[in-house]
Amino acid sequence: MNARVLVPWKSVSDALGDLSRGAAPRTPRLEGLAGGRLTVEVFTGDAPGPDDLGDVVFFTVPYDRPFSTEPIPRLSGVRVIQTLTAGYEHLVPLVRGGVTLCTARGLHDSSTAEHALGLILAAQRELPRWVRAQDEGRWEHAHTRSLAGSRVLIVGYGSIGSALDARLRACEAETVRVARRPRPDEDVSGVADLEGLLPSADIVVLVTPLSAETRGLLDARRLALLPDGALVVNVGRGPVLDTAAMLAETESGRLRAALDVTDPEPLPPGHPLWHSPGTIITPHVAGGAAGFYPKAADFIVQQVRSFAAGGPLRNVVPEPLSGQ
Ligand SMILES: NC(=O)c1ccc[n+]([C@@H]2O[C@H](COP(=O)([O-])OP(=O)(O)OC[C@H]3O[C@@H](n4cnc5c(N)ncnc54)[C@H](OP(=O)(O)O)[C@@H]3O)[C@@H](O)[C@H]2O)c1
Repeated sequence: MNARVLVPWKSVSDALGDLSRGAAPRTPRLEGLAGGRLTVEVFTGDAPGPDDLGDVVFFTVPYDRPFSTEPIPRLSGVRVIQTLTAGYEHLVPLVRGGVTLCTARGLHDSSTAEHALGLILAAQRELPRWVRAQDEGRWEHAHTRSLAGSRVLIVGYGSIGSALDARLRACEAETVRVARRPRPDEDVSGVADLEGLLPSADIVVLVTPLSAETRGLLDARRLALLPDGALVVNVGRGPVLDTAAMLAETESGRLRAALDVTDPEPLPPGHPLWHSPGTIITPHVAGGAAGFYPKAADFIVQQVRSFAAGGPLRNVVPEPLSGQ
């Protein structure tokens, strides 16, 4: 059988070359492919793509494109769907049973942690205020909060959370780690302890996946437990934070917010979050910085090579798929 592998960038297809050389071993995943032609094509997602996608066996979901999930229902013969995002909740309803879903977990760690650190520093050191004063040519002298000496609660101590933890500690912050389940060996508390940890946090960072459990995790009741002046940072998914409750806190001036992800997204013009006091918004750009792309290209090359050789795949989401 002839089959196609779709990759997002030409650099990846160039690095892969001709995958047909060397017969694929007979593994359940490659059954029917041995001896056939396995060709690599670029699918950027800039256009809907060819009508017939029935011979695509490995599909990389294009990154950072508006209709990136569109072709998935048309991939009748697909065996592996590879995302370039760490989150995959948007794909769960589209992936049929028996299809292997792999994520980009790990590839966004540096970029997302770096952005979260940037948001925290911008908020603590009031960088937007100084930029506005600069625009007006105004020397406005005042001292600000700092990150050093602050206690930062990381809610979602996973791949990105641990990369952020290392950066925060280098900045002399104290970190408190929270995951779904406690991991005493890594000094990680379970989310069941969250309410006891919020009252002593200067900064809380949300970096969990979106799931039924995490939707609305930081709601009005939990926000009310934070001390006056605390900073809420969200680099996970918008709906993990209750937008209306967050707005009530920023409008009153009691809490501050720095949000890379929002609910809704994109944040529409005129939404009250845009101009809420003490609020910094970035348009879901944390993970996709320059450093992500070379890592992602190398990862896809290795993943496709392993697929073609019948070897193990990385970042496989366990079945049955659910919203994490
Ligand atoms: N803003 C951006 O551009 C951007 C970029 C990349 C990723 N993200 C978001 O960041 C998320 C995390 O990525 P990752 O690679 O770090 O994932 P990960 O390694 O799977 O880590 C996720 C962490 O969240 C924890 N968690 C899950 N449910 C929880 C709950 N109910 N309460 C508290 N903690 C909970 C998990 O705890 P356990 O270990 O106990 O299961 C795990 O430690 C992604 O799913 C995505 O939504 C955003």
